Amino acid sequence: MSDTYLERRGEIETYFDKTAAHTWQKLTSDAPVSGIRATVRAGRDRMRSTLLSFLPDDLRGCRLLDAGCGTGALAVEAAKRGADVTAVDISPTLIGIAKERVPDKLGQGRIHFMAGDMLDTKYGTFDHIVAMDSLIHYSLPDMIGMLTRLTEMSRSGVHFTYAPRTPVLATLHFIGKAFPRSDRSPRIVPHATASLYKGLSRSEHLADWWPGRTARVSSGFYISQAQELKRT
Ligand SMILES: C[S@@+](CC[C@H](N)C(=O)[O-])C[C@H]1O[C@@H](n2cnc3c(N)ncnc32)[C@H](O)[C@@H]1O
Repeated sequence: MSDTYLERRGEIETYFDKTAAHTWQKLTSDAPVSGIRATVRAGRDRMRSTLLSFLPDDLRGCRLLDAGCGTGALAVEAAKRGADVTAVDISPTLIGIAKERVPDKLGQGRIHFMAGDMLDTKYGTFDHIVAMDSLIHYSLPDMIGMLTRLTEMSRSGVHFTYAPRTPVLATLHFIGKAFPRSDRSPRIVPHATASLYKGLSRSEHLADWWPGRTARVSSGFYISQAQELKRT
């Protein structure tokens, strides 16, 4: 992968593993949070349901990669539907929290949590790959590169989210650039849907893949677009 990818991945690891691990632990729990964070939490709950609705109801016998799993909520839901889940995150701290949150009963499903890079080919191949809000900090070329690698690892589908380039997000992005703070999270990089589709269509490695279902979730400051990539 490119130098920009490795540099960005390092910033993201520092942020989620150290700077914001506690905040992220709280946001992804049932603990009370302030109004704005509550809208983000509600939006993220809706997005998780949306991505899970793109998958078959019965995941028994399926290998699923939760790419950038964070504290593991999606991995748990997929395992409850029977999936054999590999849940990978670059933050060992979040992987530790995710392991503690696994309920006793997962039915026929299983989860293997791993701290590392979601693009590592050592995890093997999967029926489905889900990347919820874990590609949103990367530039368009790096996101296309990551999707290319993930499609190579998937037999039938890659389901991911991106921050759509809306006027509101463009403004927030501009404000964030104008007033940088040292403790700020790695910036979310919004992408115009047309640019993303153009990038995907130009990649010769993605010739067998086409964009399937898509759905937007907007809830307060949380604006995210679910996108399915299916093998033709
Ligand atoms: C916004 S959080 C979302 C976490 C989880 N998917 C969720 O929705 O709750 C993004 C996550 O992606 C992880 N991440 C980003 N780039 C990664 C990479 N290259 N490999 C593994 N994890 C990565 C981060 O560490 C972080 O936990």
